[in-house]
Amino acid sequence: MTLPDRIVLSSDHTAIPLRQAIAAHLAARGWTVLDIGPTTAESTDYPRHGEAAARRVASGDCRFGIVLCGTGQGIMMAANKVKGVRCGVCAEPYSAAMIRAHNDANMLALGARVVGEGLALAIIDAFLTTDFEAGRHAPRVAMIQALESE
Ligand code: RB5
Repeated sequence: MTLPDRIVLSSDHTAIPLRQAIAAHLAARGWTVLDIGPTTAESTDYPRHGEAAARRVASGDCRFGIVLCGTGQGIMMAANKVKGVRCGVCAEPYSAAMIRAHNDANMLALGARVVGEGLALAIIDAFLTTDFEAGRHAPRVAMIQALESE
């Protein structure tokens, strides 16, 4: 399946300005951005937004997803409940590159109360410019996916 150069973005209320900065950054790098909100700062539930973004990735509608909440942790947990999604929280670029290279992550979670804009964009660039290495990592990723059907 050839995946589109489209990235879905979502967050809870803690991350709206950062999410908007990320959308602009991605668009400037040529990605088509599907920002599914929310757009107001009213308190909202991160599981709903994590699930919504994850379903866009799992369906193949979007190649990658980037999701944000205060820590990145809760929205990551929600996204990983959707079959076919591999989402990691990163607070530095090395891990962001490695979850692509070794884990074939298709979603990235960030904590808006953890990282500032500059670091968030550096993490995203590392994630998006690193390819899955496959090889010895492919069967391990398949083992993760197999757990979903247990
Ligand atoms: C909201 O206060 C906060 O709990 C949420 O953004 C996130 O950090 C949860 O994991």
